[in-house]
Amino acid sequence: MPTALHAYTTLETRGLIEARPKSGFFVRARLADLVREPDCCAEKPKVSNLANLDPLDSLLSDHSDPKLVPLGVALPSAQLLPTARLGQMMGTLARRMGAAGGSYDVAPGSELLRKEIARRSLEWGCALKTDDLIVTNGATEALSLALRATCQPGDTVLVEAPTYFGLAHMLRELRLKALPIKVESSSGIDLDAVEAALRKKRVTACALISNFNNPTGVLIPDERKKRLVELATQHRVPLIEDDIYGDLQHEGARPRCLKSYDREGWVILCGSFSKTLAPGYRVGYIAGSQWQHQILNLKKCTSLANATLPSLAIAEFLKNGGYDRHLRKLRRLFREQVAQMREAIVESFPEGIGLSRPQGSFLLWCELPKSVDAVKLFQQARASGISIAPGPLFSVDGSFTHFIRLNCGYPWDARIERSVGILGDLVSRMSRK
Ligand SMILES: Cc1ncc(COP(=O)(O)O)c(C=O)c1O
Repeated sequence: MPTALHAYTTLETRGLIEARPKSGFFVRARLADLVREPDCCAEKPKVSNLANLDPLDSLLSDHSDPKLVPLGVALPSAQLLPTARLGQMMGTLARRMGAAGGSYDVAPGSELLRKEIARRSLEWGCALKTDDLIVTNGATEALSLALRATCQPGDTVLVEAPTYFGLAHMLRELRLKALPIKVESSSGIDLDAVEAALRKKRVTACALISNFNNPTGVLIPDERKKRLVELATQHRVPLIEDDIYGDLQHEGARPRCLKSYDREGWVILCGSFSKTLAPGYRVGYIAGSQWQHQILNLKKCTSLANATLPSLAIAEFLKNGGYDRHLRKLRRLFREQVAQMREAIVESFPEGIGLSRPQGSFLLWCELPKSVDAVKLFQQARASGISIAPGPLFSVDGSFTHFIRLNCGYPWDARIERSVGILGDLVSRMSRK
């Protein structure tokens, strides 16, 4: 009895249950369950030469500033990653390999690592072979290789609206245009619009984040993934898939890749271990499909090789380090952290906001009142010691002016809770003006 009473008291203190007189305890309705999802479709995307991404530089450099609360860059806390373990593994490898550890790991990269990634691809529904894969310097290099292998300057690439700011930045630097297609929270990219763009031959390639999109968190349902691959195959347009968040579902089975539906080699799959193991190791991969040979040549003339020891340490972790156990822990923590952040936002932000309800990863996409200028909010938040990512970064044409993305990759604590309160005050003040 005392244990049960103690449990009730704890749950009540945490706001999870409430006492009703003469009736007992009841599960409390969570405010966050009542909030609507953001409406990204209200924005009207157009082909664009890409907007200026001014806050990007300061956002990226802010990440290493301990004085700022890290709600900006999409990274988990280093505390949650097996950095010490990987470091030990790298030390052991360095001693064992001697001079070879300091030598090139020439493209396509470590066979051991590619074998481990190929083995894991079974879980994504893919059954890749070792030789289907090339090791890259993060997903960034993989995406750049895929775009350069399939497009020429001046070509147009179909992207989601909103999409990852690194992709928007890359398109601009590669002199590619973007055709943004709106994304719905429950079903992902608008398939009719994709089909129309392909039919009118408006695009040379498509670049999509298939599982737990950054920033929206949207997971493309399986039947839509299948249809997307059918459309790409039918119109003979390469589909560049970024699956960097695919291992981070909050519950249930790991979602499938677009690549798993690819029978004729039109999907180029990109990924990395930046969100699950070590962003600084810069270990990613690409399965280049029919462009494998071109991608390999491009890789050789871009970076020739990968860093040997980080690649081998990641391979060792995948083989013997308990990667699956580590993922189970990360998934649970991210689910909890996202729920805590959602609840805090709903409590301190003004009514009427939209908030994503991601089924995986650690990002929240928040639609604020229309009068809020997200870039100004970014600047004011920064002045208050909080880093956030303003919405226009995730567009190719400067839209999403009243949206922000928040990182929930850090364990919930008083500092983060206070920051969400401060953000709520700033948003309320800006929305009254
Ligand atoms: C969707 C997406 N793709 C690629 C990257 C870059 O990954 P990497 O560190 O492996 O280059 C990120 C990082 O935030 C991302 O969110």
